[in-house]
Amino acid sequence: MTIIKVNASRAYEVIVGKELLDKSGELCKAVISPCKACIVTDDTVAELYLDRVKSSLSREGFEVVCFVFPHGEGSKNISTLENILEFAAESRLTRTDCFVALGGGVVGDICGFAAAIYLRGIQFIQIPTTLLSAVDSSVGGKTGVDLRAGKNLAGAFHQPSLVICDYSTLDTLPFEAFADGCAEVIKYGVINDRVFFEKLTESISSNLEYVIAKCVQNKRDIVEQDEFESGKRQLLNLGHTVGHAVEICSELKISHGHAVAIGMAVIMRASVNMGLCQQADLDSLLALLKSEGLPTSCNFTAEQLSEIATADKKRNGSDITLAIPYSIGDTRLKRIPVSELCEFIKKGL
Ligand SMILES: NC(=O)c1ccc[n+]([C@@H]2O[C@H](COP(=O)([O-])OP(=O)(O)OC[C@H]3O[C@@H](n4cnc5c(N)ncnc54)[C@H](O)[C@@H]3O)[C@@H](O)[C@H]2O)c1
Ligand SMILES: [Zn+2]
Repeated sequence: MTIIKVNASRAYEVIVGKELLDKSGELCKAVISPCKACIVTDDTVAELYLDRVKSSLSREGFEVVCFVFPHGEGSKNISTLENILEFAAESRLTRTDCFVALGGGVVGDICGFAAAIYLRGIQFIQIPTTLLSAVDSSVGGKTGVDLRAGKNLAGAFHQPSLVICDYSTLDTLPFEAFADGCAEVIKYGVINDRVFFEKLTESISSNLEYVIAKCVQNKRDIVEQDEFESGKRQLLNLGHTVGHAVEICSELKISHGHAVAIGMAVIMRASVNMGLCQQADLDSLLALLKSEGLPTSCNFTAEQLSEIATADKKRNGSDITLAIPYSIGDTRLKRIPVSELCEFIKKGL
């Protein structure tokens, strides 16, 4: 078991270990005294893991209610959020009660947002069950839902009170979903950790505790310096400006991690073509992405992608901030005029 302490606006621990679901009650009790706990999860995860978490929480004195919604990004919207809030109100959750997000990034983001706004904010606990949510979305306090106009356009910063990452749950994850998480894992190496990147080329799946803990530490270090994303935290958006555009162009048929893999490949290719980064580093990135079953290109045009990317909320007025790799382990932020984005993407396709 590895414990990582995060000192954001709220201090909390991320516990990474095997078979933790049956201890989730004990672990929660150490940070929140027994209260009403509203577990939010999706139908797939509910079938696999809800009973174990529910029993463990009940054993420790929590009064458990559960809200289950259909799995998939299509559920991460205002309508599901409304249903969760109405359910919490009907279940008479008070300010001293809590939400528990059991599932992947979709569950974590929407449940976290519900916790952020229900009664102006109550505590919540993250129990990530995908690699992506373990290494990325469950830590750092970004919560939210998608709007018709784009991904994650409504949300709040709201830190969890505890993150319980039981990586045995990843055993049931389909290959594609595991690959989604690998894209985010690889991202941390490219941003600022070349040694970690090299380790990943040996194996991700057989070193899960090390890999997850290392990603969480990396994210923690960045979030502690810039919780509200006014500067350094934007590095974590590496591959995401183009990635989000790919997700939307594909009408969400290309999943988040796969789109981020394409986004990282595009941005690094552009960086090489502009003489900022060595070809050998690009080759290493492409090889690692492919070895984890991830795509490195797409059929959308630079015009299609840049049009969507400029509507992205990461834009500041007439500029957009991009995270650009100068080498593996050295990614830097650069502001470019929105009008140059299309040309930039063209160099990377
Ligand atoms: N808040 C943040 O900082 C942040 C960071 C990165 C990504 N995100 C968000 O995370 C979301 C993507 O997360 P995701 O990839 O975890 O998606 P997800 O939550 O949709 O999970 C992917 C699929 O795997 C299933 N699943 C989950 N756990 C499983 C398990 N253990 N076994 C079998 N099936 C399981 C789910 O039911 C779902 O169908 C996106 O909405 C993205 O915007 C947020
Ligand atoms: Zn991401």
